[in-house]
Formats: sequence, structure tokens, C-alpha cells
Amino acid sequence: MAVWGVDLSCIGCSHYKGLKKGLAVCDAYKDKIPYSILSGDWDHRKSFSGDHGIQFELIDSKSAFSEKDFWINVYRNNKAHWTKKEPSLLTKKAITKLGPFSDVLEIGSAAGIDTFELAKSSKKVTGIDIVPEAVKLAKKNLEKQSPAIKDKVTFEQGDVEKLRFKENTFDFVYSLSVLHSTNIKKSLSEVKRVLKSKGDAVIYVILKSGKEGIDEKLFVNTINDLFSVSNIEKSEVEDDGGDIHKISIAWLKNE
Ligand SMILES: C[S@@+](CC[C@H](N)C(=O)[O-])C[C@H]1O[C@@H](n2cnc3c(N)ncnc32)[C@H](O)[C@@H]1O
Repeated sequence: MAVWGVDLSCIGCSHYKGLKKGLAVCDAYKDKIPYSILSGDWDHRKSFSGDHGIQFELIDSKSAFSEKDFWINVYRNNKAHWTKKEPSLLTKKAITKLGPFSDVLEIGSAAGIDTFELAKSSKKVTGIDIVPEAVKLAKKNLEKQSPAIKDKVTFEQGDVEKLRFKENTFDFVYSLSVLHSTNIKKSLSEVKRVLKSKGDAVIYVILKSGKEGIDEKLFVNTINDLFSVSNIEKSEVEDDGGDIHKISIAWLKNE
């Protein structure tokens, strides 16, 4: 089972212990993990008979390996399902409400699908992604765009926590489903630093439920510390695997 490309099978669980006498074991099932959990048929974030309250806990991507390695792995294992999507409705809404733009930064641009949409209403758009393979894919997709879009869009590898851009560079910063897996204080401080005065940012994050997502209080406190908050939307969305996530969309201004 995968949620947003993250493996939720035993192999991605911090309680998994490997094989004992040829059988897969874990902290909950010390002799044999039941087949329905091991096969992924049962989502073991929910309790299962005999687990004594020990359920799936995602290996902490930052302690087990770096965030960058984590995302590289997602792309290598063909779990980056968002590389084949349509432009997001949020992207279109942001353009309608806030556009047209001069200089835009998209963080976590992946295959560039939303970047191309932003470029239709911008003079210049830069898409950054932490994974080199994502940047390569976005550049390949850029080749298929019209000359007008090709002239406006650039993709490069970059980490939102350490942006290479100068202060006051962009009039719009956009990030869809990325910052909840980063250090939010570092990331949003960088967003603020590169945003022009009176510039806008739209930030979509997944809120914490279980081990995933960002703590809502931390997110809300951080945006309030750094920005003037025009609006915070909160809703539930269903991902490709049919799981429901709580999400938040922050509409921010750099006052
Ligand atoms: C869940 S995907 C979302 C992709 C795209 N924004 C969308 O919504 O379709 C998260 C993307 O953010 C990138 N990413 C993760 N951490 C990042 C970071 N610290 N800096 C820049 N990009 C990052 C990942 O490589 C991945 O392409």
C-alpha cells in the first residue's frame, strides 16, 4: 500500500525486524506477521488482532536516510504518481485570484505540470525540485511545450530549506504538497526571504494524522509568525490509494 508514494508495507515500518526462522517478524508479532498485514491487504495503521497496540509506524525518513534520499527513492521506485497528473485546480485558482505574475518560484515542481500552467500567466517561472531525476523529467517535458512557454520556464535542482536566490526576487511563490515533509520554519523563512515585499505565496500541505504530515498548530503558528495570512483553507482529499488526508492551503502575503 502506498500513500503519496510512500510505502506503507512492513518494509517501511520502524517495527519491522526482518526474518526469524524464515518468517517475517516485528515488535507486534514476534513469531510471524499475519499474512494480511505482510501482503498489504490490511492497512496496519488500524489495529489488528493480536498486535497489542503496536501498529504501522513509518520509518522516520530523516533519521533513516536524508530527505533527499527519501525522495530519490520514491522516484526510482516509480511511486511518483504526480508526474502523470493534470494541472491542479489550485494552480488555476491561484492564477485567477492572484495573477498575472512577473517572476514565479514553484517549489517541488516534479514533472513541471503545474509550472507550465503558471507560465501561461507569468513572465518568468523557475521550478525547483530536490530530486535530479524530477528536474530531468521536467526539462524533457519542457521540450514538448510551445516556444512561448519554453522561453519563460527554467528548472533546476534545489532544496527549499536553502534557496540559492537573492532576497526580494519573486512576486509569487507556489508549493503544492511538499513543505509538510520539510523543516517548516527553515522552508517558510526561505520563502519569505526570496519573496518581494507585497508578494504572494500559496502553500498546500498535508496535515498530520498518525505519522504523516505536518502538525497543524506548528504550521499555523509558523505562517502567522512570518506572513500576513490572507486565508487558510482546510479540507479532506482522497489520494490515489483511496486514503483520506486532511490538508491545509495557506494564502500568504509578505507585508
Ligand atoms: C508529493 S510531490 C508533489 C509534486 C507536485 N508539487 C504536485 O503536487 O504534483 C513532492 C515533490 O517535492 C519534491 N521535494 C521534496 N522535498 C523537497 C525540498 N526540500 N525542496 C524541493 N523539493 C522537494 C519531491 O522531490 C517531489 O517532487
